Amino acid sequence: MKNQSSEKYITEIQRMKVEKNAIILAHYYQTSDIQDIADFVGDSLALSQKAAANNADIILFAGVKFMAETAKILAPEKRVLLPDLMAGCSLADSCRDEDFKIFIKENPGRTIITYVNSTAEIKALSDIICTSSNAVQIVESLPKNEKILFAPDRNLGNFIKNKTDRDMVIWNGSCHVHEEFSIEAILKLKKENPDAKIIVHPECELPVRMIADFIGSTSALLKFTKTDNANCYIVATEVGIIHQMKKENSNKLYIPAPPRDSTCGCSECSFMKLITIEKIYNCLKNEKPEILIDEDMIIKARKPILRMMQISEKLGL
Ligand code: 13P
Ligand code: SF4
Repeated sequence: MKNQSSEKYITEIQRMKVEKNAIILAHYYQTSDIQDIADFVGDSLALSQKAAANNADIILFAGVKFMAETAKILAPEKRVLLPDLMAGCSLADSCRDEDFKIFIKENPGRTIITYVNSTAEIKALSDIICTSSNAVQIVESLPKNEKILFAPDRNLGNFIKNKTDRDMVIWNGSCHVHEEFSIEAILKLKKENPDAKIIVHPECELPVRMIADFIGSTSALLKFTKTDNANCYIVATEVGIIHQMKKENSNKLYIPAPPRDSTCGCSECSFMKLITIEKIYNCLKNEKPEILIDEDMIIKARKPILRMMQISEKLGL
């Protein structure tokens, strides 16, 4: 339930949005109160597409830093605000540009496909960016004999490699949230709820992917629960997505897949959860913290993102 002070912040946020011609873009992993005040809620791909095409002067990004950076790269003329600059990503942090340059040198002659969960510097070193919504299709859009270097997520990389049977070398990075799911706890839940379907984000490890009824990006998981005929789902991705699942179909049951650490009940991305209504209020009021990227970096990182957007558009994604 919303308390009085959060109601006050929400009223002010709505007023300032109009006054400043600002929009709030929120990822599905944000808390439900933030998702409910956002102008647009989506997965990484949809948020990038929205950032590239809107009439606002200010984009306030309720998500993590790589997402806000992508918005700035796609809309450099706009002010892009992130309510907490510490909202990083363990996966993006697992690939530093000095190490990545060495990896590229050790694996020459390969097309570099980089997951959007990466820093602007890593994007600038890449040929094409992908998200979990379009990664398989982007790889498949390349000639069969094209050699690929994929970074930074090893689980998504292996998932794509198995699906497409392409020659891929994969950076050894991972997300601390998606690698934390307990296969034993998921199987126990399945035993207790035999009709439940196990739905899994491709950033999860192979044993969890192997028991999945469906694997997909956050928006694909959401779409699956909408169109599928089961009534119960064990959801192996960040728990924030369940808010939209319940909004779309409140008659179904959504059980968060438990992490290995049984002291916490469900899996939360601590970086995503750094964003709060109060921080959004302060950020919009003071118009900071702002995402600033130098022009040269914007030009270099924009090219592979635009290539992704063009391929996605062509494929109707
Ligand atoms: P999506 O691309 O499915 O939105 O996932 C983003 C993410 O950070 C997954 O951990
Ligand atoms: Fe990064 Fe993992 Fe959080 Fe997604 S869930 S933003 S990959 S740390």
